[in-house]
Amino acid sequence: MQHTRLFRNHPSTLACLLLAVLGATTSPLPAQDTITDTIDTATNGIITTPVIPVLQIKADQVSAQVSPMLYGLMTEEINFSYEGGIYGELVRNRTFKADATNAVYWDTVGGAAITLDTNQPLNAALNVSLKLDTGKASKHYPAGIANSGYWGIAVRPNTTYHASFYAKGKHFKGPLTVSLFHINTNYPNLTYHASDGSVTEGFDGYTVPMASATVSKISSGWQKYDVTLTTGDVPVSKDNQLVISTTKRGTFFNHHGEVWFQQVSLFPPTYNNRANGNRPDIMQLLADMHPKFLRMPGGNYLEGDYINERFDWKKTIGDVSQRPGHRSPWNYWSTDGFGLMEYLGWCDDLHMEPLLAVYAGYSLKQQRVAPGDDLKPYVQDALDEIEYITGDTNTTWGARRAQDGHAAPFALHYVEAGNEDWFDRSNTYDARFSQFYDAIKAKYPDLKVISTVGNDHPESMRVHSRTPDLTDEHYYKTQEQMEAQSHMYDTRSRTNLTKVFVGEWATRVGRPTPNMAGALGDAAWMCCLERNSDLVLLESYAPLFVNVSDLARGGSMQWPSDLIGYDALTSYGSPSYYAQVMFSTHHGDNVLATDSQDLPTHPWQPPQRTRNGVPQGERPAPQPVPSVFYDATRDSQSGTIYLKMVNRQDTPQPIHVQISGVSAVEAQGTAIVLKADSPDDTNSIQEPTNIVPDTETVDGLGTDFTRELPPYSITILELKAK
Ligand code: AHR
Repeated sequence: MQHTRLFRNHPSTLACLLLAVLGATTSPLPAQDTITDTIDTATNGIITTPVIPVLQIKADQVSAQVSPMLYGLMTEEINFSYEGGIYGELVRNRTFKADATNAVYWDTVGGAAITLDTNQPLNAALNVSLKLDTGKASKHYPAGIANSGYWGIAVRPNTTYHASFYAKGKHFKGPLTVSLFHINTNYPNLTYHASDGSVTEGFDGYTVPMASATVSKISSGWQKYDVTLTTGDVPVSKDNQLVISTTKRGTFFNHHGEVWFQQVSLFPPTYNNRANGNRPDIMQLLADMHPKFLRMPGGNYLEGDYINERFDWKKTIGDVSQRPGHRSPWNYWSTDGFGLMEYLGWCDDLHMEPLLAVYAGYSLKQQRVAPGDDLKPYVQDALDEIEYITGDTNTTWGARRAQDGHAAPFALHYVEAGNEDWFDRSNTYDARFSQFYDAIKAKYPDLKVISTVGNDHPESMRVHSRTPDLTDEHYYKTQEQMEAQSHMYDTRSRTNLTKVFVGEWATRVGRPTPNMAGALGDAAWMCCLERNSDLVLLESYAPLFVNVSDLARGGSMQWPSDLIGYDALTSYGSPSYYAQVMFSTHHGDNVLATDSQDLPTHPWQPPQRTRNGVPQGERPAPQPVPSVFYDATRDSQSGTIYLKMVNRQDTPQPIHVQISGVSAVEAQGTAIVLKADSPDDTNSIQEPTNIVPDTETVDGLGTDFTRELPPYSITILELKAK
């Protein structure tokens, strides 16, 4: 009879399972080997007892410093990230420029007629207006305009909203009533129930207004009107409209009135009560991530499809009524109400610094500015933008920033020239980059300048004429691909002066937001980033946001697998979001040297390379990929060790942890665990907290212990080491 004994200095799986059943998830290491031999008749008496993998943490060997810039955020206008997302504005198409011919997202009320009018511009920026014909209005049949927001308008009880609009009248002097109406979708043809109890036929679909205010007089020239709308004890809902209506047909002498509108706006209370500010629930999700930086404003949104659709920052600052807006490459209109200063206010609110991407002369539909004289104005624009952010108030653009409401300069350390310039088929990036690099370094020698073509692209595409301080590498992968590259940076050369910014990455499993499989791939990858953060100084998941209200093609999502989802009313974090929170809020400043033996692996067939759907070259050979991932960091002040472990398997996985280089580790510590019953499990707008981390106190820790990782789990152990 043959027995295969694969024990090392650790307890058997059987013993671990017993301990797990008894509720002791962390067990001290027995002093002696414990060997349990079993005869298995089904395998001719040969039994292979699984080995418990060993993980060694060498707490006296610091392999790297954790970058102070881990972890960050990446943002752009995609998936209705700002308008219909984090930006507080509740009115959709508030400037009527989303469509050149139709007043899209606007409805009429009562007998009103509306048209777009280019003959009555508010100004050069907002050069179209909405004309309302009031000729059929009456006391019992008000005429007006209505907006349903971004798939609804959230209304909450006892809350004050700020509505504003520009208007001018012809044969019309008012009054106008501004109201928030709940739409009862069960009764689409409801009549209007006025607050005095009278019931009126024909005011389609509206019930009693939940909040109302009156503008008594409208002038014949453009003027801005502001009102507050305060709700009472109304139910929370998103099936609401903003309605501006009148019961007056016109003036005494001419009964056929017309009113023009521009920039019709409605704001709820915002995060930190910032004017023109952000939605509190989404901001809170971000605040919980403790991000260090915000990569802004893109992504493709920086570049635009065409040069004149780039993020032209000078057109996004100052009075919102002077911002013309532009079409985004994600195919919808941006009013630019969320402009450069709003990004900076966002940074202020979350105590993070901007990582500024400047337009570098390439737009997505292969439009580009030639390096040399043609590019000079764009380089100057970038220098002005940096001055706007960092200059003191004696500088031209620093003074402009102060005029825009922020006298203090913002901290800025990183500037990225362009976005994904490997798409530029003319290969001009090296020349364009060097022009930006030289100008930025000449004026701001301390700024780190990032190239957008990294080691994930062929050598021939990269910048050679200068040494970029960092390159931005992007990885959108499956779970298996992320896991397969989870040791990629361990062997990357450290002699290269150029560091790495992983400025966009995601394990793209699950839509609209990633599921647990996505979180597991992310966690495997983040172990790699953290372990190598002497090289990878910055990272940011992308995309950050998705509005989940309309997931059909052309709806509210352009790119699936996004970290945070929301509709008009509520928001939620995906399992990947919680993985990010866990990583960003639990790490030390030193990366510790680690080693491991007998970690389980699984076979993986890498996908075949294809071009236009046609397979290219040999089918790659299957390869073994780890099933457990880990890294360890230590807080040099407190001594706390943060051990992160990821188990992607469908079975529990005991891990034997040995810690050397410390005199002791307290028996009691903390475990933060994110786990699921299935890799498909996820969070959603209906079930926002299906998968969230649990924090528990654990016993039985020390310099030598065994911890069982649940199936499909991410575990962080906080170990109090001395
Ligand atoms: O994150 C979505 C898009 O992916 C970004 O806009 C672009 O930079 C990348 O291709």
